[in-house]
Amino acid sequence: MKIRMLVVSAFAALVLVACGGGGGKKEDTTVAAGGEKPLYDRLGGKDAITAVVDDFVANVAADARINAFFANADITNLKAKLVDQICEASGGPCKYTGKSMKESHAGMGVKEEHFNALVEDLVKSLDKFKVGEKEKTELLTALGSMKPDIVQQ
Ligand code: HEM
Repeated sequence: MKIRMLVVSAFAALVLVACGGGGGKKEDTTVAAGGEKPLYDRLGGKDAITAVVDDFVANVAADARINAFFANADITNLKAKLVDQICEASGGPCKYTGKSMKESHAGMGVKEEHFNALVEDLVKSLDKFKVGEKEKTELLTALGSMKPDIVQQ
C-alpha cells in the first residue's frame, strides 16, 4: 500500500515538473525573441556605461574643437545625465530625468562638425573599452537619432 502511494506521488511530482514546476513559471523574458540580450547588458551594464562616459567626457574636455561649449557646464550633472540617458536608450533599468535634447542644446549654435567631433570622442572611448562593432553601431544609431534636436542648421 505504502509503495503504491509512493509511486503515485512520484508520478504526480513528475507531472508537475514536466508542466513547469507547478508555479506557472514563464520563460526568462529578459532575453529578446532572437535570443539576444538588450544592448544595455551587452554593453556591460551601468558600471561599464559609467566608465565609458567618464572617459568620453574627459576626451571632450581635452578636445579643442568643442571644449569651449562646456566652459560653464556642470560636469557632474552632465555625466550623470549621460549615463541615465544611455542606460535608458539601451534598454536598461534607468530613467532619464534631464532636459530634452532640444531644450538643453537650444541657442548653443552646435554645428554638424561639432556633433561629429563629439561622436569621434565617444568612439575613442568605446574602442578603448573594447565595445564590439555591433554594440557600437547600435549605440551610435540611437544617439544619432537625437542629432536633429541638437544641431542647429
Ligand atoms: C548625441 C549627442 C549628444 C548627446 C546624447 C547629448 C546629451 C546631453 C545631455 C544629456 C545633457 C544634459 C541635459 C540636462 O542637464 O538635463 C547635455 C547638455 C549639454 N550638451 Fe549635449 N549632447 C550631445 C551633443 C552635444 C554637442 C555636439 C555639444 C557641443 C559640442 C553639446 C554640448 C552640451 C552642453 C554645453 C550642455 C550643457 C551642460 C551644462 O550646462 O551643464 N552636446 N547634453
